[in-house]
Amino acid sequence: MKIVVIGGTGLIGSRLVRKLREHGHEAVAASPDSGVNTITGEGLAEALKGATVVVDVSNSPSWEDAAVMKFFETSTRNLLTHEAAAVVGHHVALSVVGTDRLLQSGYFRAKMAQENLIKASSIPYSIAHATQFFEFIKGIADISTDGNKVRLPPVLIQPMAADDVASAVGRIAMGSPVNGTVEVGGPEQFHLDELVRRYLAVRKDPREVVTDPHARYYGIEVSERTLLPGNNARLGETRFETWLSQPTGKAQSTKPQAAA
Ligand SMILES: NC(=O)c1ccc[n+]([C@@H]2O[C@H](COP(=O)([O-])OP(=O)(O)OC[C@H]3O[C@@H](n4cnc5c(N)ncnc54)[C@H](OP(=O)(O)O)[C@@H]3O)[C@@H](O)[C@H]2O)c1
Repeated sequence: MKIVVIGGTGLIGSRLVRKLREHGHEAVAASPDSGVNTITGEGLAEALKGATVVVDVSNSPSWEDAAVMKFFETSTRNLLTHEAAAVVGHHVALSVVGTDRLLQSGYFRAKMAQENLIKASSIPYSIAHATQFFEFIKGIADISTDGNKVRLPPVLIQPMAADDVASAVGRIAMGSPVNGTVEVGGPEQFHLDELVRRYLAVRKDPREVVTDPHARYYGIEVSERTLLPGNNARLGETRFETWLSQPTGKAQSTKPQAAA
């Protein structure tokens, strides 16, 4: 089966392409570097020729409100138009658990717009809602840092390894379209402040985490369960302590992380 992975060079995309190839599929890693650009449309028609499934795990290079909205709207419209022309049978997109509860943020408004375009299109689809990646924890710490202090609310979070996200998305891509949303999450729940405190301690980062119930998550007011998936979420296997003990070169992304 030919599966085109848009964003196939990214944190999730590179892992997904490897896993699909291990399962014997023809997985095409599509990104601007390989001559496929969903914003300009360059290379899309050629890449999609003969594809059964398209998986979109791309991300916007800019997370400024207007830029990220333009990215996901333009990219998704271009993709869906080219998929219809190529008679692609399944569009899979990766989005974030709780997107509809996080609309104070321009990033999540853009993800919501992406999801709405997919739902309104004629292409059979599956949307995977994942919780925050372990690889994203440093990004949460960085955006919440003021001087030497990291202010975070003690809300619940159920993060997961990028490897497990890629496996879950791969299974969804190989299955039939659900024409709906599938939630995936990590095997354990944490309080956000404690999770970041543990991460920084193990990485020997001197910043101090201050528990502040009024602090925001990425500029968004969140309540205790806003970031959690529902009871039917498919759970990844990798525990946080196992991931933390891996060599950082394997565990960390080399790319910037989105506000997800
Ligand atoms: N961070 C989290 O905790 C989290 C949680 C749940 C869901 N998500 C979602 O997961 C998705 C993937 O995130 P990620 O961290 O794996 O992303 P990433 O590592 O930043 O990778 C982004 C990918 O998009 C590609 N790309 C950028 N502009 C493109 C364009 N115009 N045309 C085609 N490809 C383009 C990039 O290609 P180049 O390498 O050539 O730039 C790269 O392959 C995002 O949509 C995000 O919303 C994230």
